[in-house]
Amino acid sequence: MSKLVVNVDHVATVRQARRITEPDPVTAAALAELAGCHGIIVHLREDRRHIQERDVEILKKTVQTKLNLEMAAVPEMVKLAVRIKPEMSCLVPEKREELTTEGGLDVYGQVENLKGIVEELKSAEILVSLFVDADKNQLDASKEVGADYVEIHTGHYSGAITSEEEILEFEKIKKGIEYADSIGLNVNVGHGLNYVNTQRLVPIKQIQEFSIGHSIIARAVFVGIGQAVREMLDIINGRL
Ligand code: PXP
Repeated sequence: MSKLVVNVDHVATVRQARRITEPDPVTAAALAELAGCHGIIVHLREDRRHIQERDVEILKKTVQTKLNLEMAAVPEMVKLAVRIKPEMSCLVPEKREELTTEGGLDVYGQVENLKGIVEELKSAEILVSLFVDADKNQLDASKEVGADYVEIHTGHYSGAITSEEEILEFEKIKKGIEYADSIGLNVNVGHGLNYVNTQRLVPIKQIQEFSIGHSIIARAVFVGIGQAVREMLDIINGRL
């Protein structure tokens, strides 16, 4: 059965709007765990627009399931991850001006650089996941650099305008997931997944984890984080 890993970045986005101490993503993470999620993910961005180092440090001590630190593949972040030691690290491309992560990491174009980074993280006993598009070259390169997991980028699927485009993007993701699994990579999915578009992915058995943030936090504003997490768990477990 697939697992749900909840991204609590946008609780910190609300906090940072006032630069005060509430709402605290650490509290959100605890409540999401009490509701049954299988892990917590946070993205510590270079510009610190939402999650702060303090959040990652406290979450490492308080998360009871598994902490996944999403981060750019740069020396500053690798050093920080090795110091804090989250259970997993998901490497993503990062641009200052983007609203959110815009595409998969170009693993194929930086194999040697990533080999070193993956090795450094793995020697600190951190599982490494690479956020990539459902593209054969990127998946082969992810295997080559020694990643434990890939997280297949679902942003093109979730952002599709027409139903034809959505089905086309879904087919690409499905093929990518099956290929990644066939070459021995563990497979997660994420980006832009919500209470509607996640349902089509549920039957894909190779998916180990759904990494979902914005839609859960958005729903939590109205129904509370516990209910928002439970409803998403119901979808992922095929109960809805
Ligand atoms: N996975 C990755 C690699 C991401 O960058 C993000 C966004 O931070 C997510 C998953 C979660 O995406 P969303 O907030 O759209 O659910």
